[in-house]
Amino acid sequence: MSAELESDDLTEKTYDSRLLRRLLRYLGPYKAPVAASFVLILFMAGLDLAGPYLTKIAIDDHISKGDTRGLVRVAGLYGVTLLLAFAVRFGQVFILQLTGQKIMLDMRRQIFGHIQKLHVGYFDKHPVGRLITRVTGDVDAVNELFTSGVVTVFGDLFTLLGIMGVMLAMNWRLALVTFAVLPLFFIVTDWFRRGARQSFREVRRWVAKINAFLQENITGMPVVQLFRREARNQAAFSAINRGHADANMRSIFFYAVFYPAIDLLAAVAIALILLYGGGRVLSGALTIGALVAFVQYSERFWRPISDLSEKFNILQSAMASSERIFLLLDTPPEIVAPVSPTALPDVRGRVAFENVSFAYNPGEWVLRDIDFAVEPGRSIALVGATGAGKTSIISLLTRFYDVQQGRVTLDGVDVRALDPERLRSSLALVLQDVHLFSGTIASNIRLGSAISDEKVRAAAEAVHAHRFIQKLPGGYDAEVKERGATLSTGQKQLLSFARALAHDPRVLILDEATSSVDTETEQLIQDALRVLLKGRTAIVIAHRLSTIQNVDEILVMHKGRIRERGTHAALLAERGLYWRLYLLQYKDQELLAT
Ligand SMILES: Nc1ncnc2c1ncn2[C@@H]1O[C@H](COP(=O)(O)OP(=O)(O)OP(=O)(O)O)[C@@H](O)[C@H]1O
Ligand SMILES: [Mg+2]
Repeated sequence: MSAELESDDLTEKTYDSRLLRRLLRYLGPYKAPVAASFVLILFMAGLDLAGPYLTKIAIDDHISKGDTRGLVRVAGLYGVTLLLAFAVRFGQVFILQLTGQKIMLDMRRQIFGHIQKLHVGYFDKHPVGRLITRVTGDVDAVNELFTSGVVTVFGDLFTLLGIMGVMLAMNWRLALVTFAVLPLFFIVTDWFRRGARQSFREVRRWVAKINAFLQENITGMPVVQLFRREARNQAAFSAINRGHADANMRSIFFYAVFYPAIDLLAAVAIALILLYGGGRVLSGALTIGALVAFVQYSERFWRPISDLSEKFNILQSAMASSERIFLLLDTPPEIVAPVSPTALPDVRGRVAFENVSFAYNPGEWVLRDIDFAVEPGRSIALVGATGAGKTSIISLLTRFYDVQQGRVTLDGVDVRALDPERLRSSLALVLQDVHLFSGTIASNIRLGSAISDEKVRAAAEAVHAHRFIQKLPGGYDAEVKERGATLSTGQKQLLSFARALAHDPRVLILDEATSSVDTETEQLIQDALRVLLKGRTAIVIAHRLSTIQNVDEILVMHKGRIRERGTHAALLAERGLYWRLYLLQYKDQELLAT
């Protein structure tokens, strides 16, 4: 699946009726504007046909007969068709573009809505950059199909058929002479189409590489500068940049040949018309006006044909884009609400893991036979080496993933039987890496919930965040920039405590909440923690054993299993894993002290 999404071009076929049908469904709500635009395009094509014919009339019926008044009349008519063409084209472009914008709006809303429903595990396997491309570039490509592809192709075809019809009706021999160039034209177009498609694909691939490289190295700028990778990065970027430029050059080559070649062919066609038609005029079989009209028609003939090959490219890239979009939309959310969720009006906050085993990837067990319970209002701590599976336990409780064996319950109800929204609204998760959104301090505490200003402030005061918030320019309305780049880690931590407290959850989960702040802040945090934990069920993960000495039970994890459990004192007396961990830290502290 991921490999499929990675590839930039899924569809080698240009045309896939299944995809196209599904795409056309997006036009559904806009039948009227699409139809209007369609009619206007046909009208436009008709007006296009009128010009040369009016020229013929002007020359044959009026100029050659010295009929000035008639000439003025025809010229006036010509002027009217031009004005009309202007108005029609304006209306058509406007309506179609507007519709295209609305379709993009619908599509983006749908894709983003779907992305939000996907379970957390999906994002482990699908890079953010590609998902962003789905919502931006791919939707654009589809839009282009609607605005300059599907609808206008009909206009082009109509113009072509119309011109051919009029030419044949006016003088079929001369018409056939004009069409003699067509086979050559098809050869050139086919060559162009193949070459351009190939080089476009290459350009797109290079663009994706540039984006990925930039994203990685701009977000990682501190590391880049710290490890002085600038020169190496510059070289790497130059290589990618050169690849991109080369690919572009190749595609430019095709264009540079194609359009002049078309011009040349068009000129050859006109030369043929003049050569053959001129002879016919001399022999009296053709009027001058008809000859002039033929030249004009033939000029108008090539434009839509060369446009068609361009539209072929649009169609192709829209097909590839829509296939990728639909693949994303068809990915079923793995974590869904049950059909009839168990109602849990009053959450007391009893959390239990019953013989839970879990693997992110089938067969690679990360958790084995995890069995514990936390009574409402009690606290538990998880300790253990890195990679032991502590965070994974939390991800199961919040139902970011589902267990393979056993069950996780809240108040005795399997979390899979609860509406995820209900479940998550009774939990609050405080992570070490605090994620802040753009907005204000207050909006980051509220996170969209209806929480009064007083409550926000009370929460901030209770966890000692009020002091630093007050000092910010604007206080609670101070803007949070770039995911909180201007706040310290400790400040962000306090902010996330305030966030948790303001939401007043029954169950509070802390993941390594206290591992990266100075002693003073740590004391603030410890104090804030006491406030936070009061009266709630708490699950605390901490690397610093000093912070969890007061919890009701400590679970010591080792390689996905619970190896020891008990209170701080009892575990120390046991002289096992916990004791060794404690000793290690204790020694560290002693070393630090000296
Ligand atoms: N999204 C994931 N996909 C696959 N494997 C994962 C994923 N997240 C974690 N793991 C693996 O699961 C194991 C347990 O990871 P987990 O994050 O639960 O450890 P932890 O005890 O929280 O460690 P730490 O103390 O470093 O935070 C590790 O071996 C890790 O490589
Ligand atoms: Mg962890």
